[in-house]
Amino acid sequence: MAGMTVLVVGGGGREHALCLGLAKSQSISEIHCAPGNAGTAEIATNHSFSQVSDLVHLAFQLQVDFVVAGPEAPLCDGLSDKLAKMDIPCFGPVAALARLEGSKLHAKQVMKENGVPTADFHVLDRNSDVDAALNEFSDNPWVIKRDVLAGGKGVVVTTDRDEAKEFITDSIRTDGKVLLEAFLPGEEASMLVVMDGSGYVCLPASQDHKREFEGDKGRNTGGMGAYAPAPVYTDSVKEKTVNRIVEPMHKALSSRRIPYRGVLYIGLMIDGNGDPYVVEFNVRFGDPECQITIPLVATDLGNVLHAASVDKLSTLNVQFHDKHAMTVVLAAENYPGPVEKGREIRNLPDSSEDSWVNHAGTKMEEGVLLSNGGRVLSCTGIGNDLQEASTKAYSLIDQIELAGSHYRRDIGHRAL
Ligand code: AMP
Ligand code: GLY
Repeated sequence: MAGMTVLVVGGGGREHALCLGLAKSQSISEIHCAPGNAGTAEIATNHSFSQVSDLVHLAFQLQVDFVVAGPEAPLCDGLSDKLAKMDIPCFGPVAALARLEGSKLHAKQVMKENGVPTADFHVLDRNSDVDAALNEFSDNPWVIKRDVLAGGKGVVVTTDRDEAKEFITDSIRTDGKVLLEAFLPGEEASMLVVMDGSGYVCLPASQDHKREFEGDKGRNTGGMGAYAPAPVYTDSVKEKTVNRIVEPMHKALSSRRIPYRGVLYIGLMIDGNGDPYVVEFNVRFGDPECQITIPLVATDLGNVLHAASVDKLSTLNVQFHDKHAMTVVLAAENYPGPVEKGREIRNLPDSSEDSWVNHAGTKMEEGVLLSNGGRVLSCTGIGNDLQEASTKAYSLIDQIELAGSHYRRDIGHRAL
């Protein structure tokens, strides 16, 4: 039987990881990526599109069997809805369900309706008494969240009352409202759940490192590295997470006329008693969590993603490798601030069965590999334990030369 043709939307490290997984799949014979990067160009045909209407047209022209959406923005803009109208299956939810990431207030309301544990919150607007609200949550750092897609810049956690007040006032001025949340103490983990109308599959839980510097200091980034499985996610935490969060969310999301088809990223806070709370939902794979979760999936990835886009997930018995994975991000100079693109990348090491380089912000110009974004590459290692995975990832990243670039040396420190 001829394999399927797939279009992967996006151009970061996550999408390169998806393309690598699909390239290994017996079920897939042709991969297209839009816009892609220098890494996806080696295994897929890149197309320089990122507008939803262009992507839908491309999927139609290529007669793809299905589309895999990497980032949230095209989903919030209706990519999946428009593909559904043309009978093209999409791994990624329709816009009404992508609002779980697009609006933090909406996500909170859905959690409340379904009894899913999450932090208490207030919605503040022009008429609110900001000082009274701050007083109510003053025992801990204040957690303030804008109700918009802000690319990781919409959340402030601070003990500085002036900073808290300023962020609240500015957010109300631009967005009309803002969320003030109770602080949840504990350890974070990322839970990726592939789901459709027929069922769900929890992928191995992972942990990413969001701060720019070692010891989890410095500015917030998209993620400087990640590893899986995360030891904080014990069997007992897993049971509670499935019963209290995954089951009720799947029940709510699968009962829609068009059910949730794709991956629900559940950002968890696990408290001292091992009780899980939802910090956030994303409607996509995490980046860099995808780079270390996808390689642990033993079942043909093309079959898994396609099944979840046509409500056939429950017909598969999805298996995982009993291995550990780590990825370490090589970031451009000054990331997460503005970066200069177009710097030459030298000494890219060869990949092996169990260690490789994921491309993120890269492009090839006249045979020269150039940086093209803030997170440029990530190096991934697979091992029988986390230490082995770490050694493999670091032995790759140590070889790469990119002027001004930086990476954290302590990825996985909580588990190692
Ligand atoms: P979010 O975009 O909602 O995931 O928030 C970004 C980061 O802020 C999270 O990864 C947490 O580290 C932190 N955070 C968010 N909400 C809370 C909370 N209620 N309590 C403690 N930390 C939080
Ligand atoms: N690594 C966090 C995220 O993808 O949102």
